[in-house]
Amino acid sequence: MNKSRASAPAKVILFGEHFVVYGNPAILASINRRLVVDARKIDENRILIKSNIGVAGEYSSLGFKATEGGMEAKTTLDPLYCAAMQVLVARSKKTGIKIAISSGVPPGIGLGSSAAACVSTVAAVNSLFQKKYSRQKICKLAIESERLIHKNSSGADCYVSTFGGLMHYSKTKGFKKIQAKGRLALVIASTGVRHSTGDIVAGVKKFKDRNESLFQSLAKQAAGICVQAQRAIASGRHDELGALMNENQMILRQIGVSHYKVDDLLDICSKAGALGAKITGAGGGGAVIALAASNQDRGKIASRAEGAGYESFEVEIDRKGLIV
Ligand code: PMV
Repeated sequence: MNKSRASAPAKVILFGEHFVVYGNPAILASINRRLVVDARKIDENRILIKSNIGVAGEYSSLGFKATEGGMEAKTTLDPLYCAAMQVLVARSKKTGIKIAISSGVPPGIGLGSSAAACVSTVAAVNSLFQKKYSRQKICKLAIESERLIHKNSSGADCYVSTFGGLMHYSKTKGFKKIQAKGRLALVIASTGVRHSTGDIVAGVKKFKDRNESLFQSLAKQAAGICVQAQRAIASGRHDELGALMNENQMILRQIGVSHYKVDDLLDICSKAGALGAKITGAGGGGAVIALAASNQDRGKIASRAEGAGYESFEVEIDRKGLIV
């Protein structure tokens, strides 16, 4: 095939971010915001990547040249170049490729845009050739590519983006889908403060190295919250789930990944009637996720956050994951 397309969803982490990097559990869900990659074979021996998020560039024997977005383009595009090259090397193919990315996922706020980009780039480039790889193999190559920018990645984002749905994940045990009773009325609000996941994870490592026993005790509490949360999801006890989100947020605050704008948003969510709210993803700004008792309530939370100047949107859980 000369042309192919793949898309992968963004995600939210409901419980357990950061501790998941150290082998603890997390609960995640893919959401109904997607990133689409179109790939095409070209005659020149180059990899061209363009996107709708202000970065574009080309990789050739002369190295990298940004055609949009300056040096920031290299940081964003290197994992995608790596994703494409991994497929070409694994298949012993030599061809130029043009990759076009169309993202509906706001970058740098904890919604897993780079994982969705790596997963869909591996899948789209792979589809240019005979004999498709399994989802497991696509996910593995995507994690390796993502590790170029975030070397300690737990792999959670790539898993949920590849396989979709609501899941329990740990680095050692892999993922297990969770069946929810009733729908979760979720809303995301962004502080507008972008972060580098790698830098924030490195900051948490420093905290851990200086406060090992405190960190271990917080990790144990966070793991306990995941166990209770999974039961609350399975039996539809959303009041309890909200309270657990608030508890998880207190732990995240203690490891230093909160932000004054996160606190402002959490206050807005709580006053608008959220059952619970917390950072989702790496933090240090980024986005907050809130659970509401009903769709009407989540609409109210979203409009209060918007009214205070924060971009906000209601989300549904995606069940499909990677689509090729
Ligand atoms: O902010 P995001 O979307 O990159 O999520 C990072 C999640 C962490 O747990 C902080 C890191 C990881 O590798 O799991």
